[in-house]
Amino acid sequence: METPVVAEAAPAIVDLVEGKTYFWCACGRSKKQPFCDGSHKGTSFQPVSFTADKSKKHFLCQCKHSTKKPFCDGSHKHLL
Ligand code: FES
Repeated sequence: METPVVAEAAPAIVDLVEGKTYFWCACGRSKKQPFCDGSHKGTSFQPVSFTADKSKKHFLCQCKHSTKKPFCDGSHKHLL
């Protein structure tokens, strides 16, 4: 099974808009972290689409190992 690239071992803190749909990068190769830029093409990964529940800052996973994708669950602390 393919392993995602650790884009960064820390979450991205981003302002999301309630009701808007976003595409979270699952492969770790996107240059527009934490969002998809199409770089997953040719891999087994697909972006995760989600809709923001509230307009506020969200902590989005960039290590790609969270069990609560697309959100950070602290798993980045256990890498390396
Ligand atoms: S950045 Fe991936 S779990 Fe925190």
